[in-house]
Amino acid sequence: MISRIFVSHGFEIGSPFAGIRLSFAAMSAEYRQLLDATIAHLERLQGRGVRFLPASPEARATLKPSVPASGARLSPVVARPNFQSPSAPERSVPVSPPVEVSRPPVVAPAVVARPALGPEEKAAAYGELRQRALACVKCPNLVRSRQQVVFGVGNPDTELMFVGEAPGADEDRQGEPFVGAAGQLLTKIIQAMGCQRGEVYIANILKCRPDTPGQSAGNRKPTPAEMATCIPWLHEQIDLIRPRMLVALGGTAVEGLLGGPVFIMKLRGNWREYRGIPLMPTYHPAFLLRNQSLIEKRKLWEDMLQVLAKLGRPVSEKQRNYFLKA
Ligand code: URA
Repeated sequence: MISRIFVSHGFEIGSPFAGIRLSFAAMSAEYRQLLDATIAHLERLQGRGVRFLPASPEARATLKPSVPASGARLSPVVARPNFQSPSAPERSVPVSPPVEVSRPPVVAPAVVARPALGPEEKAAAYGELRQRALACVKCPNLVRSRQQVVFGVGNPDTELMFVGEAPGADEDRQGEPFVGAAGQLLTKIIQAMGCQRGEVYIANILKCRPDTPGQSAGNRKPTPAEMATCIPWLHEQIDLIRPRMLVALGGTAVEGLLGGPVFIMKLRGNWREYRGIPLMPTYHPAFLLRNQSLIEKRKLWEDMLQVLAKLGRPVSEKQRNYFLKA
């Protein structure tokens, strides 16, 4: 996210801008859209390596530095794994196959050092961000086809955040990420980790369901343009939530957060970093719905064991041995 502006004779891209957004409540929808488009443009420039833009003294005079964030702990709960396919039909599961893709990298903006927000300020900033995202009209095709924007769900004070690809039909209908077949499996994975779904935070790279013109069902992978347009929402979400750890579910999630191309089969299980936050790339649960082999389930589970270890969470012998051959 572009979140601050340093003022001399121009402004530096990639430093906190968030204070400007905190006062959005007072702005008109048109002005917000204009500002969002400007920020998206700056972020695209930043992704291309541009670091400095000229700005007039008047423009500089209107810009102020700023803002926010904090973190909280997960509480332990009893876990039992059961990574069987839920009965929901697989047509509602959007995910691209774990294959190598070639596309221009979508680079995460530079590390943002934000001071922590107090609980009330954070809740207000979260609500304000959510309202702006829900009103987003940046992708006309998706605005036409969507039933609703799927912002994200869970505890904004969590230490663990999961990022998926894009809403499917079920998520579009219910307005919540990961509620279809893949979502039920994700919930089981979270529970097997000793957490509850509501304790973590779940979001997607794309906030709207990718449209499938001429088809009444089915899913498709987000386009690079859709990802580049939508990713600022996720950057802002992560900046605000400030989880201790991120889990990227599938190649598209890794690509959206870190840039691509991504070969998830090779990358999974290897720690990466997103703006200073440890990021574990792993399979998308939909991949395990299609591939029920114990070996692949175990791989995802080993990734989650690494996450638990890094979080300093206790892991029982039973948990440690899930999905090992008898
Ligand atoms: N797959 C995703 O990547 N996200 C969802 O919200 C649901 C399925």
